[in-house]
Order: sequence, then C-alpha cells, then structure tokens
Amino acid sequence: MKSLFILALFFVVVFSSCKKKKSTTTCTPPDTVSFSGHIQPIFNAYCTSCHGGASPSANLNLDASVAYQNLMNPQKGYIDTINPSASLLYCSMNATTNPMPKSGKLDQCTVDLVLKWIQQKAKHN
Ligand code: HEC
Repeated sequence: MKSLFILALFFVVVFSSCKKKKSTTTCTPPDTVSFSGHIQPIFNAYCTSCHGGASPSANLNLDASVAYQNLMNPQKGYIDTINPSASLLYCSMNATTNPMPKSGKLDQCTVDLVLKWIQQKAKHN
C-alpha cells in the first residue's frame, strides 16, 4: 500500500514537472531598429503581396527598392517622427478595425517594432 502511494507520488511529480511551461511571449526588441534588417522584412512577409508590383494597393508600394522612399513622402503622413504614434504606417498596423495586413493584425511585438523604428527617427539604416 505504501509503495503504491510512493508510486503515485512519483507519477505526480514526474508529470507535473513535464507539464508544458506556460509560454510567456518574450518581446525583446533590438536596441536599434534597422529598416533593412527589421522593418523591410515585415513588409516582404506581410505587405508586398498587395502593396507591391505594378499596381500596389492604396498606391503604396512597399517593395524593398522603393519602400523607404515612398514611406517618406511628406504629403502622405505614413511617418511622423514628431508624433510617432500618429504615423499612418503605425496606425494602419495597430488599428483594431481593418488593420494592415487585411488578414489580421500582426502580433503586438511586431507592430511595436515599427513604432520604435519611427521613434528612432525612421532612419534608412
Ligand atoms: C490583402 C491586401 C493587403 C495587404 C496584405 C496589406 N494591405 Fe495595406 N492596404 C490594402 C488596401 C486595399 C488598402 C486601401 C484601404 C483599404 O482598403 O483599407 C490599404 C491601405 C493601406 C494603408 C493606408 C494607405 C493610405 O494612403 O491611406 C497603409 C499605410 C497600409 N495599407 C499599410 C500596409 C502594411 C504596412 C501592410 C503589411 C503589414 C499592409 N498594408 C498589408 C491592402 C493590403
């Protein structure tokens, strides 16, 4: 009887220790956000399917060769380094209704990375 108890205890210990650790989403943004290293890859993965090629959605082409130049168009307000969170680029990705990309808002980590890049003066780095 006692050994059964110990056996049971053994299983409890083993199984509880094997329990999958609760995934804590770690969000550690780089100290310096790089346009070519961090931002353009987001566009390539989630945006250029629509915002690319010959007739990009909203007339905004985010292909690597032209993305930076297009985002810096002062007439459009995509980037606002004085008031970063008012930047259309960030707002479009952070929107709760009809966010960009249209398939659904990206994880907050990614969205915040874009904001951080703008806060760091949206350099062509
Ligand atoms: C499935 C196609 C699609 C994808 C993917 C997509 N967009 Fe868009 N985007 C559009 C369309 C269409 C519009 C025009 C407005 C609307 O329909 O909401 C637009 C509008 C925008 C605007 C506003 C432009 C303006 O002048 O008002 C921004 C900024 C933008 N998208 C950024 C992005 C970014 C950044 C991504 C990737 C993270 C992205 N979009 C992914 C289709 C897309």
